[in-house]
Formats: sequence, structure tokens, C-alpha cells
Amino acid sequence: MAKHIKGVVLAGGLGTRLYPLTKVTNKHLLPVYNKPMIYYPIQTLVEAGIRDILIVTGGNNAGDFLRLLGNGKEFGLHHVHYTYQEGEGGIAEALGLAEHFADGGLLCVILGDNIIEKSITRYVENFLEQGSGAKILLKEVPDPQRFGVPVIENGRLVRIEEKPATPASPYAVTGIYFYDAQVFDIIRGLTPSQRGELEITDVNNTYIERGQMTYDILDGWWTDAGTFESLLLANNLVARLHQERRAGTGH
Ligand code: DAU
Repeated sequence: MAKHIKGVVLAGGLGTRLYPLTKVTNKHLLPVYNKPMIYYPIQTLVEAGIRDILIVTGGNNAGDFLRLLGNGKEFGLHHVHYTYQEGEGGIAEALGLAEHFADGGLLCVILGDNIIEKSITRYVENFLEQGSGAKILLKEVPDPQRFGVPVIENGRLVRIEEKPATPASPYAVTGIYFYDAQVFDIIRGLTPSQRGELEITDVNNTYIERGQMTYDILDGWWTDAGTFESLLLANNLVARLHQERRAGTGH
């Protein structure tokens, strides 16, 4: 890859939807089948060739990330960057902490509770080719009202609605985002939503208004793991993947 892109894993927030599992520990340290949740988004970035990675932690037990991940040796990395989000001011607030790390370059951002089946290499390459603006990845889901939902007219992305009661499409905006350095000025201009957070959907809508947002449809399964149902689903999907791989390789 000629051009450079850095990775950011957002693992802040208090994970209140998983209370009391998250009463004493951080949501992203909870197990998903045979690994702590945070391993999966890191692996997604590393497998796509992204080796310069910042982890934004927050909430309970932030120090445990360092104990768990160290300098990323298990992922074949030599160094991992860390920063800390105080409180839970939202996904966009957490991303705002990556400005110094981004250093004016391109970013691939992934939410710490998003787990996927396949590689994102092709989307990373598409964004590097695009070179500026932003890109989101969409996935058809049975329950779009739980997510950011794109309004698409004649194949054109018109806007994103956050957790709409009546979804305009069967797609979720997944927690894998690509941004150029404009994102930090956009975040500075945001005001908190009804739930008191700086919303990543507002960031994405700004890029759409500027005509600088593209989208791809994500291949393979995708889930978040931030509710009891989706955490269980994530465990089962990863377990099945392991079974399939074992069967496929004869182990
Ligand atoms: O999973 C995809 C969805 O993630 C998108 O479709 C939505 O548009 C987006 O708003 C988000 O929805 P959620 O309400 O499910 O996000 P949640 O508050 O569960 O946060 C997801 C991750 O973001 C969490 O695991 C860590 C990170 N985060 C979140 C907050 C609120 C932070 O790093 N800091 C925060 O303050």
C-alpha cells in the first residue's frame, strides 16, 4: 500500500447496557468465545495491514488494557498507542482524542464491540484510493432500529438516522469508519444529542452534506456485542467460525 492509514479502536464508555457484567470490569475485556472482546477489532485492523494502532479506553479498569495487550506482541505489533476518555461523552468524543495520533493523515476507526467474519482489506484499499473524505460500511440486519440507519435513494446515500423507530432501509451503519483529518474540525463543531453524547452519526451526516461520503456493503457476518443478546450472538458466531475452520482444516 503506497499511502498510509492508521487505526483507532474505540473502547471507552461505561457499557451500562451490560450491567452488572460491566459493574467491575470494562465491556471490551469481557470474553467473546475464547478471547477478550477487544482482540477482535484489533485483529480486524492488523489483518488489513494496519499496524499503527491507537486504543481509546475509558471507564472501569482502563489499566487492564495495558496489562492485557502490552505492546501488541500477540498481534505481531511492536507498539500500541493508548489514550483515555473520561466519562462517556460519545463515540465522536472518543475519536476526538485521536487527533494528535492521526497527525493529519487517514484513519480507519473501529468500535471496540464490533466483531466481523471477514477481512476489511478491500475497503481499506478502496478508501486509500479515494484518498480523502469518509467511507462507511453497511450491513443488512434484521433489527436496523438498534443502529444508525442509512437513507438511500436511487443508490445515493442521503443521510443517516440514529436508531430510528421506523427504519428507512434494512441496513445498519457498522462501527467501521474511514475518515480524513477533517473529522476533528467536524467533531469540534458538534453539540451533544438527546442522550448527552457527541454522535458519530452527526459526523457522518456532515460528510454526506459535504458530498464527501462513500459507502460499501460489508461482506460476511457482522455484529456488535453491547447488549446481552448481541454478546451471546457474538459468542455463538465466533464459536461456529472456529468449528468451521477446524472442520475445514481437518484439525
Ligand atoms: O455498532 C454500530 C453502532 O454503534 C452504529 O450503528 C450507531 O450508529 C452508533 O451510534 C453506535 O451505536 P451504539 O449506541 O450501539 O454505540 P455504543 O454506545 O454501544 O458504543 C459502541 C462502542 O463505542 C463502545 O463499545 C465503545 C465506543 N464508545 C462509546 C461511547 C458511548 C466510546 O469509546 N466512548 C463512548 O463514550
